[in-house]
Amino acid sequence: MIALTLARAGANVVVNYNQSRRNAHSTVKEIERLGVESMAVRADVANPAEVKAMFRAVEKRFKRLDILVNNAGIFFPVHWEDLQERDWDRILGINLKGPFFCAQAAARIMRRHGRGRIINISSLGGIQAWPKYMHYCSSKAGLIMLTRCLARALAPDICVNSVAPGTILFPGEKRGPEMEKIIRSTPLKKAGRPEDISEMVRYLATCGDFVTGQVFVVDGGKSIP
Ligand SMILES: NC(=O)c1ccc[n+]([C@@H]2O[C@H](COP(=O)([O-])OP(=O)(O)OC[C@H]3O[C@@H](n4cnc5c(N)ncnc54)[C@H](OP(=O)(O)O)[C@@H]3O)[C@@H](O)[C@H]2O)c1
Repeated sequence: MIALTLARAGANVVVNYNQSRRNAHSTVKEIERLGVESMAVRADVANPAEVKAMFRAVEKRFKRLDILVNNAGIFFPVHWEDLQERDWDRILGINLKGPFFCAQAAARIMRRHGRGRIINISSLGGIQAWPKYMHYCSSKAGLIMLTRCLARALAPDICVNSVAPGTILFPGEKRGPEMEKIIRSTPLKKAGRPEDISEMVRYLATCGDFVTGQVFVVDGGKSIP
């Protein structure tokens, strides 16, 4: 949805995937039908060597880079007593280390043209404490702090912001009892739609250049204290 929204706004879009090759290639086709250029690149964002190779491929094809959206992320519950080192390594690798190395590689290209936008997709879980997801919450809280640190480090050329989604209901997804409970405790009494996130990303990718280091929470008011 984010890739398609940016393509509709006129951007050429590189689609990164790790496992979902077929989905990535069908997204590329959909983007090309919108009249802009696209390509899919496989890279595990938790692997800095693969990240470097991905950005080399991006620069080779497009010669420049204006926007990076760090959207890749994983989410799984584990009771704190059962959390293993491999759970921490996996979640921090994809949700926190990955966005850093993508931002580092992207910023090197962006700076050559003197401007750029980096948008990190964090989570309401980076703001609120969910005990069954303490590894996830910690990774997303880290991503929020990374956003602020990068915003200072990359200013004044590059603006770095974060979008923190609350619960999003994808088309066709069932509203189970857990979802109903979340909706009841959300002031706006609904779950978010993918468009709610992609529109915020589009705004941050195209708005004036006086916003950096901020977190935009898109959660129907659930985080209001
Ligand atoms: N859905 C929600 O309600 C919600 C709420 C708050 C925050 N978020 C955040 O929003 C982002 C997208 O969430 P989603 O619900 O769309 O998740 P999703 O449907 O599970 O998709 C996850 C995406 O991350 C990619 N990914 C996972 N591991 C990767 C890796 N090692 N390298 C490269 N790509 C990798 C996957 O690509 P492959 O399939 O190719 O591996 C997939 O495109 C995540 O950062 C998530 O934490 C979502």
